[in-house]
Amino acid sequence: MTYKFDFETYIDRTNTNARALEENHFPDVVTREGFSKIPMWVADMSFPTVPAAIEKMKKRLDHPIFGYFITPDEYFDAIISWQKRRNGVDIERENISYENGVLGGIASIARVLAAPGDNVLIHAPSYVGFINTMKANGYNPIFSNLYLDENNIWRMDYEDMDRKIKENNINLAIFCSPHNPSGRVWTREELERAYEVFKENNVYVITDEIWSDLILADNVHIPAWSINEDAKMRTITTYAPSKTFNLAAFIGAYHLVFNPYLKARIDRQVEKTAYNRQNVLSCAALIGAYSDEGAAYVDELREVLAKNISYAIDFIEKNFKGVSLARPQGTYVIYLNTKEWEEANNKSHDELLNRAVEYGVIWQDGRPFMMDHTIRVNLSLPFAKLVEAFDRLDKYVFNGDW
Ligand SMILES: Cc1ncc(COP(=O)(O)O)c(C=O)c1O
Repeated sequence: MTYKFDFETYIDRTNTNARALEENHFPDVVTREGFSKIPMWVADMSFPTVPAAIEKMKKRLDHPIFGYFITPDEYFDAIISWQKRRNGVDIERENISYENGVLGGIASIARVLAAPGDNVLIHAPSYVGFINTMKANGYNPIFSNLYLDENNIWRMDYEDMDRKIKENNINLAIFCSPHNPSGRVWTREELERAYEVFKENNVYVITDEIWSDLILADNVHIPAWSINEDAKMRTITTYAPSKTFNLAAFIGAYHLVFNPYLKARIDRQVEKTAYNRQNVLSCAALIGAYSDEGAAYVDELREVLAKNISYAIDFIEKNFKGVSLARPQGTYVIYLNTKEWEEANNKSHDELLNRAVEYGVIWQDGRPFMMDHTIRVNLSLPFAKLVEAFDRLDKYVFNGDW
């Protein structure tokens, strides 16, 4: 199949200061001569961004003065129409606030909703950024485990959430939708049940929907705030174009809040740092990305990701005995459980992790996401590169002689 956008050429990021290649989480391992490093960990993509984002930034660079600037109406209009187009919801300009990144936003918002020392509910497995940001800001994460049901689908345990909230006097939850690293796209019913628990216990919720554009197959993303009026009043939702369009290096996110009191409190809190200032290029990039061309790019990207994920899952099921996973419904990451393989092959988790890195497959230890014997693998690569990576995993790692 030919795509309008180039999702097939592998663009080497060597010497571009890409974290995906330069940040080394495996200091004891040297990648062997003759094996290029294939970036399959940090959540950015080996795909070029949408051309419309670059064009908007180039156009801004044509004007040589870069003094203080005001966020233009076009920025807010682009978000309003993107939310309508992708999520089918109506929002207004006053609901939108700029943030320097989702994690920075979560840290500022948490300051309004909880005091240092407070417990905060997070599902496990969890995006490691939530755990680190909460701890670094003096909060104590309390984990409610997701579990795999009889159909191998990750589920929330509402009773456990309720109990943990009550036992630990919790008034703030961080909720990830779609969920990283499980890839779950929560259904309306699941959101409603989770929010019943939040309502019953007076819990405010920071819902991170940064992955909401990357929904696979016929799954549907439902903004959690939109499920009912109570949810709307107790939720602050974070978004960004960075995952969707591979724009993380520009920084820039935003949140939506509909509760006027929370909005006022959060705006006051955020102002205090004097740090939350938008970059003119990041603003231009969002305007370019949240466009007709951006929508066409995302639609193609979702097909590319769906194909990659299906390939990886089929390959694993066929060839990697003792490795299991649940099929993601969104995102571009898979979360492998390698316990059985490790036991059957008498290898430790570290040995397994290191072995792939030795052969250039730079994947990510899943343990910091709060589950043992796990590995997170980023599949947002041109298909041919993905095939190469899985061939290496087959030949040298899971079925290699070592
Ligand atoms: C769920 C989730 N939230 C937030 C982020 C990071 O967002 P930002 O770079 O805007 O802080 C990531 C990055 O992987 C993520 O997966």
